[in-house]
Amino acid sequence: MENLISLVNKIQRACTALGDHGEESALPTLWDALPAIAVVGGQSSGKSSVLESIVGKDFLPRGAGIVTRRPLVLQLHKINEGREYAEFMHLPRKRFTDFGILLSPLSEKRVFCVAAVRKEISDETDRETGRSKQISSVPIHLSIYSPNVVNLTLIDLPGLTKVAVEGQPESIVQDIENMVRSFIEKPNCIILAISPANQDLATSDAIKISREVDPRGERTFGVLTKIDLMDKGTDAVDMLEGRSYKLQFPWIGAVNRSQADINKSVDMIAARRREYEYFANSPEYRHLAHRMGSEHLGKMLSKHLETVIKSRIPGLQSLINKTIHELEGELSRLGKPIASDAGGKLYMIMEICRNFDQVFREHLDGTRSGGDKI
Ligand code: GDP
Ligand code: NA
Ligand code: MG
Repeated sequence: MENLISLVNKIQRACTALGDHGEESALPTLWDALPAIAVVGGQSSGKSSVLESIVGKDFLPRGAGIVTRRPLVLQLHKINEGREYAEFMHLPRKRFTDFGILLSPLSEKRVFCVAAVRKEISDETDRETGRSKQISSVPIHLSIYSPNVVNLTLIDLPGLTKVAVEGQPESIVQDIENMVRSFIEKPNCIILAISPANQDLATSDAIKISREVDPRGERTFGVLTKIDLMDKGTDAVDMLEGRSYKLQFPWIGAVNRSQADINKSVDMIAARRREYEYFANSPEYRHLAHRMGSEHLGKMLSKHLETVIKSRIPGLQSLINKTIHELEGELSRLGKPIASDAGGKLYMIMEICRNFDQVFREHLDGTRSGGDKI
């Protein structure tokens, strides 16, 4: 049976591909109804590091200041065999292969391919924002197919800031906040709130904005980065055990690569191992080690996403049926043959929706007969 998360991935991509043509139909509503995970936090809080750690590869543009200036919708697809590759929605025929096999620094070609993904993200950002330090809410869609990922959709958002810098309009602080809010205020958005442990939690941008839209912490996952950078004699135990700020889900601690590690090209797999050892070997965190670190975070998010999707199946099913209905109407208005671009795309989405409906049915049957095998 097709994995529920990859089905949702498919329909999200299809809705986006349709773009403006979908405005009169139920598609935008359908997109909003599908759960996704958005990463929020202040600039340099460690958002990109956490994302890369979940994926197990470093492929995101980085640098001081504001680097992420458009939302990046990152869809991870677990494949059982074959070579891993990355693909952008705006470049459907181009595969970035040898993606992220940074484990062997011997092969320059491989390193180059990861760099190519990174370069394409920043070029595509500039295409929309015109090389300025402006931001745009038009997302970039990147899919990663790999045996080493869990099925997951993550949205990387620009970091929250306090002041505009040279070349940015004064409104940027508010613009970023509004953009972030527009994603996380949707009830179906799962919030990954990133706060650095070496700063007071009370000043965390991630907590401030997520509390606004999810006051009871019912769809917020708190991640504490930079635990290794805390002042000597202090520790994060109160925060990690939820005594500093309570969320429904347990807090997760992370020790990502430092800038020095990145400069030395410490690879991600080694970094993950080191992260685990950090928690397992420190007396204050040992009892929490099993639920710390980015590998655990990725698995937990994927499981949670699947649970959320399952719980929404009945609602999604009726919305999808409504969408199919409307698309049929729209298609017959457009008339046959479906030569127009819009017609072709509508048709494609309708097919995906039908497929969706079928899988949902199978899933519900499976659950009824006692199986829980996705
Ligand atoms: P973003 O702006 O939120 O995406 O933050 P980045 O992921 O780019 O991280 C900003 C800087 O903090 C980088 O130099 C990272 O190497 C460093 N960093 C992030 N997380 C950690 C951590 O857990 N420990 C240490 N020592 N450095 C970290
Ligand atoms: Na940054
Ligand atoms: Mg970043």
